[in-house]
Amino acid sequence: MNYHWRDALTDALRRNRRDAHHRYIQLATLTGDGWPANRTVVFRGFSEDGQRLQVATDARSDKVTQLARHGPVEICWYFTRSREQFRIRGEATLHNDGPARAGLWSSLSEAARVQFFWRDPGRPLGDGDAVPSVEGPPETFLLLEVIPLRVDHLRLAAEPQQRFLSELREGGWRAEPVNP
Ligand SMILES: Cc1cc2nc3c(=O)[nH]c(=O)nc-3n(C[C@H](O)[C@H](O)[C@H](O)COP(=O)(O)O)c2cc1C
Repeated sequence: MNYHWRDALTDALRRNRRDAHHRYIQLATLTGDGWPANRTVVFRGFSEDGQRLQVATDARSDKVTQLARHGPVEICWYFTRSREQFRIRGEATLHNDGPARAGLWSSLSEAARVQFFWRDPGRPLGDGDAVPSVEGPPETFLLLEVIPLRVDHLRLAAEPQQRFLSELREGGWRAEPVNP
């Protein structure tokens, strides 16, 4: 079968690029006591080798505490224009150093950068004391990468609907069409 979820995802990104929200994804983690915790984050692109999905996040946020204990995550991503959903199960890793993190930092807008200088997230609001970045990324800035292990792709616009399950096995990705 001539299907690869990464090609399908790249195609969806291209076909939905006119929607401002097409890079907003839902990223679910597990709390220490077993509850799911979900939030919206921005997909920032693939790693240089094309294997990992990248997100910028704050070292002080709850998700970072959760990920330090449990690496498993699930991304849920719905493209409204092409009407397809990707659910990506994977392992998350956090990076506080390295060229990929530095590259991501330099690609961020000033408005996105300044948040990493704000007071601790989730704390009561105080007087704003954010300072714009002049140098490299602060310690609060982390690159979060998701290494996909399983992808469930649902195409609502196909007639009939299509669903593909892909799993990373020894030797590479195996994809299988299944009933939606
Ligand atoms: C549209 C949108 C985009 C967001 N993008 C990011 C992001 O790229 N990275 C991030 O850490 N939080 C992002 N957030 C904030 C998260 O949803 C969340 O509120 C924050 O990261 C704290 O989550 P946590 O307490 O579960 O760690 C975004 C929120 C919205 C609504």
